[in-house]
Amino acid sequence: MSDSWDDLASWWADEVSDDPAYEHDVHPVLRELMAPTSGRTIDLGCGEGQGMRVVGGDIVGTDLSHALLRRAGSPFHVVQARLPDLSWLRSGTFDRAFSVYLVDLIQDHRAFFRESARVVAVGGHLIVVINHPVYTAPGSAPLMDPDGEVLWRWGTYFLPGSMPEPAGDRTIEFFHRPMADLLSAAAAEGWALEALIERGLSPRTIARFPEYMGQEHFPRIAGFRWEKMPTDVS
Ligand SMILES: C[S@@+](CC[C@H](N)C(=O)[O-])C[C@H]1O[C@@H](n2cnc3c(N)ncnc32)[C@H](O)[C@@H]1O
Repeated sequence: MSDSWDDLASWWADEVSDDPAYEHDVHPVLRELMAPTSGRTIDLGCGEGQGMRVVGGDIVGTDLSHALLRRAGSPFHVVQARLPDLSWLRSGTFDRAFSVYLVDLIQDHRAFFRESARVVAVGGHLIVVINHPVYTAPGSAPLMDPDGEVLWRWGTYFLPGSMPEPAGDRTIEFFHRPMADLLSAAAAEGWALEALIERGLSPRTIARFPEYMGQEHFPRIAGFRWEKMPTDVS
């Protein structure tokens, strides 16, 4: 297992530039969820900055990997830090936080929701795009039945767990939690769900990666927009 995203930086930068799924599948979800929001923004797990370039404007990015942050560069302000810890930020600093393909790399998702709720002002937003939980369940995989139909094996969907995934010549650990755990954890930290998007891979991505043929209707991407509720002081 690799915990060092500096070692994965070149692999990830190649992956991002070569994978049509970002342009055709992930970024449209991010844009749609961000559209009704505005204001001071932080990208949690910004990597080499593609999310910040898609969203545009004055954004602070934070990430574990110094090598990836160097690629993000100007005009964005970037800070190297290990999430979910955001103790280096004052409460209510931002109007919105967004995070693409980060939450399923974080073991403590409750701390992620708690810390993001602390640094976003009341009435602000959290936008998250991740691999759909159906896709991250340990043991989940496509199966072909004898007549050629592609089916989905659910694996241990209801149990939180983790699964190593290949990343170049290394592996990344993905943390799985069922949709109910994710939504309940966010709600417990004061996030009210405003929008949920579930998508499969687009025809353009499948045309580029024919090994996904037959999987068009499988959930692959999940996107969320939450509004920060006032803390109950009664
Ligand atoms: C799959 S990449 C996504 C990057 C970016 N959001 C994007 O969409 O291109 C995951 C990113 O999360 C960062 N990361 C992983 N674990 C982290 C942690 N505990 N704290 C901060 N960043 C982390 C990695 O360095 C990497 O840049």
